[in-house]
Amino acid sequence: MAKTSSTSTGPVKKTIAKTAAAIGNAAIEKDHNEGKLMEFFCDQLKDIYWAENHIKIALPKMIKAAASPVLQAAFQDHLKATAGHISRLEQAFELLGKPVRGKKCEAIEGIVLEGESIIAETEPGTAVRDTGLILAAQKVEHYEIATYGGLAQLATNLGLTDVAQLLTTTLAEEKETDALLTEIAENSINCEAASE
Ligand SMILES: [Fe+2]
Ligand SMILES: [Fe+2]
Repeated sequence: MAKTSSTSTGPVKKTIAKTAAAIGNAAIEKDHNEGKLMEFFCDQLKDIYWAENHIKIALPKMIKAAASPVLQAAFQDHLKATAGHISRLEQAFELLGKPVRGKKCEAIEGIVLEGESIIAETEPGTAVRDTGLILAAQKVEHYEIATYGGLAQLATNLGLTDVAQLLTTTLAEEKETDALLTEIAENSINCEAASE
């Protein structure tokens, strides 16, 4: 009886040991993957931090170049909002216990350059220039919306609730700006540009 019992627990013990090892390996792999994902997430935070700072430098040039007072005011408001986006990202770095760092964002650099060439290629004080400025600004907004949307989701998946909340708040503001720019374009500037 004792012999039977010992032979039957042998394979069971082996199976338990194998299962435990498999769970252990899976846990190590999961930790490793989460570590990699966190690294990627922090890298993307640096990208958008650089982008926001670059936008902060570009917006005063757009305010100066815009002809419509309504558009100027919208850019002015977004400049203030951008300072808030930068500060939220700094809070996110702090929550993660990471130093506040930026990493050059080639995409935003390109979109801002495109905006500068629109200014160079259009007449000052025209609705055509304003149309171009809105187009350039909305490309920036869409880049930001895609980035904040993706990063907020990633933060949630990583269990970073407070960071996700910060990113979601900024996401809502970027969407609002995008909608406002569409409204300005549709309600006045595009018609004026067509009649110039
Ligand atoms: Fe922003
Ligand atoms: Fe923005």
